Amino acid sequence: MNARFDPSGPLRGEVAPPPDKSISHRAALLGAMSPEPVRISNYLRAEDTLSTLDAARALGALVEDRGDEIVVRGSGLRDAPPHETPLDVGNAGTLMRLLPGWLAAQDGRAYTLDGDASIRRRPVDRIAKPLEEMGARIEATDGRLPPFTIHGAHLRGIEYALPVASAQIKSCVLLAALTADGTTTVIEPAPSRDHTERVLLRAGVPVVREGDRVTVTNVDELELDEVVVPGDLSSAAFLVAAGMLVPGSRLVVRDVGVNWTRTGFLRILERMGGIVLADLEEPGAPLAAGEPVSDLDVAHGPLVGTVVEPDEVPLAIDELPLVALLACFAEGETVVRGAQELRIKESDRIAGIVEGLGGLGGDLEATEDGFVVRGTGGLRGGTIDSRGDHRLAMIGAVAGLASAEGVEVVGMDAAAVSYPGFAEDLAGLVA
Ligand code: S3P
Repeated sequence: MNARFDPSGPLRGEVAPPPDKSISHRAALLGAMSPEPVRISNYLRAEDTLSTLDAARALGALVEDRGDEIVVRGSGLRDAPPHETPLDVGNAGTLMRLLPGWLAAQDGRAYTLDGDASIRRRPVDRIAKPLEEMGARIEATDGRLPPFTIHGAHLRGIEYALPVASAQIKSCVLLAALTADGTTTVIEPAPSRDHTERVLLRAGVPVVREGDRVTVTNVDELELDEVVVPGDLSSAAFLVAAGMLVPGSRLVVRDVGVNWTRTGFLRILERMGGIVLADLEEPGAPLAAGEPVSDLDVAHGPLVGTVVEPDEVPLAIDELPLVALLACFAEGETVVRGAQELRIKESDRIAGIVEGLGGLGGDLEATEDGFVVRGTGGLRGGTIDSRGDHRLAMIGAVAGLASAEGVEVVGMDAAAVSYPGFAEDLAGLVA
């Protein structure tokens, strides 16, 4: 589906972004791992997180949709039923990388995971390595891609230094640690989102973070009654960017999760001169069971270029393509370094953003591990291909509103992976 986004008048008013995708995935998975019901309020109903509910059902969980909450009751940590056919993760990389942490603990049973064309290009050797050290066996296509099969085993605790700062790999190992003998420690090269640690703490699991080390001790069962999912900062970021770029805009994005491991984008934006009023969690705040929430009050304003260094990248990973968009409208040069992980997201986001925004009149250059943008104060407009990637589709839409001539987005339907009502929310703010 194509959609056109024409230059718009000021964006005004209030909007609540969709529920957090990362936290929804984790809540549903923990529900599937719990023998007692887990009540999840404000669960994200988007393609990715519906894939997680489907996987939970396929693995024996009862999933009840009560409208304002979803209740998931599963089979316990060690008793997932066998599943003969491949489990379909759809487009969801987080599901594909986290679920194996649980399945690896199903001693004597094997499970195959597969997904869409984008998923089949995304590596799983990064989770296979630690899970094999813990005692499971993984057979992957060409040794590193889906479809892949996890042969469960009685797991042993390990100490594992992550080769890249990835919340997905970290979370996979921490889920496996729930049943592994002894304790398991993950060492991170730089902090990444910590939703798994927080929800495990809530579920009564001993989780300790000391510097760059996260240690989990095994438990018999999870004790998790309820998860309240905040609004998704990564989805809110598109609304923030639209408010920042369209002259005369002033808008409030309500009830957004502002866990400090997710708000790197807002700190980058602040350096670019963008003003967002919010009550953010302090960077480096001690690990807590809760997820902080704030409104984001955004006003249009001029921007300048900035440099994003490698240690900031994991804290803004999904928003870096938006930094490129903002940088096109800024004065001066913006450089993003140490972001090679962008090449293996739902699409190659370095190529997608450099070619996509280049085609709209932007002056961008790809580097091996990021990009350089020379701000020209605006974008002409034209056509951009989402490449089936939800975040690129939404960037095209925001670019259109702020452009001189409007933007046609090819493949706008991809937005439904994380933000089904995106185009309607934008239109509501313009009206
Ligand atoms: C996610 C972690 C990030 C992020 C993804 C969601 C998560 O991936 O890009 O959209 O929920 O843990 P990596 O851990 O691979 O960087």
